[in-house]
Amino acid sequence: MMELSEVIRVRHAVRRYTDKPIPQDIAVELQNTIDQYNREGNLSMQLKLNDPAAFEGFLTDYGIYKGARNLVAIVSDRTSDWEERCGYYGAHVLLRATQLGLDTGWVRQFGRHLRRHVALEQGERPRFAIVMGYGVSHGHQHKSKRYDQVARVPDGMATPTWFRAGVEAALLAPTSLNQQKFTFALRSEGRTVETKEGFGPCTRTDLGIAKCHFEIGAGPDAGFVWA
Ligand SMILES: Cc1cc2nc3c(=O)[nH]c(=O)nc-3n(C[C@H](O)[C@H](O)[C@H](O)COP(=O)(O)O)c2cc1C
Repeated sequence: MMELSEVIRVRHAVRRYTDKPIPQDIAVELQNTIDQYNREGNLSMQLKLNDPAAFEGFLTDYGIYKGARNLVAIVSDRTSDWEERCGYYGAHVLLRATQLGLDTGWVRQFGRHLRRHVALEQGERPRFAIVMGYGVSHGHQHKSKRYDQVARVPDGMATPTWFRAGVEAALLAPTSLNQQKFTFALRSEGRTVETKEGFGPCTRTDLGIAKCHFEIGAGPDAGFVWA
């Protein structure tokens, strides 16, 4: 199975899908992954398989994701950091789906529409969805900002390899409107990383996704901590 450090390179947003169904064994893996990250992230992500009804109004209104029949609804309440948690744990689920051979794409503005199709506890709402299935193509690499537009290290400090690798992995992450408004800054003690989300729609969720990618790029031995 492909390592996550490779998975982040092959993942691209896919907006047109074939009607090939997701096999049962892959569906079970996906559900296990969702259960794990729901516990860790205090979220209520919900898998909808072969459910064209969940897309109906949305597709005719917007027509963006053609042929899509499967999705993970990212459902959360508004307890602290909910926007970032939707991104961070959603990204983990998305990368697992990619690892299992599926194509994926994030969708915002799906919230209102999905309300009728998911189970909601008090205070919870669907915030985003990740569409998944077998794409007509696997998409293409997005245009990206450069490393030095989003990374800062203190003057005079040599950039640690793990920090550079982390930022480069973050630049491969999906962001809403491909805006890449995040920044990563290394503190002078050399192991604490500060982040900023920037201004724009969904930037906190984008930052959560980028942090997931950063951790994968930096690797398990980097030994850094988030500020
Ligand atoms: C939080 C979030 C919301 C998104 N919402 C939409 C959307 O509503 N419609 C859409 O076509 N793409 C959406 N995208 C996909 C982005 O446009 C896409 O990830 C970005 O252009 C980068 O391309 P890539 O995913 O191929 O790297 C969204 C991405 C993120 C991270």
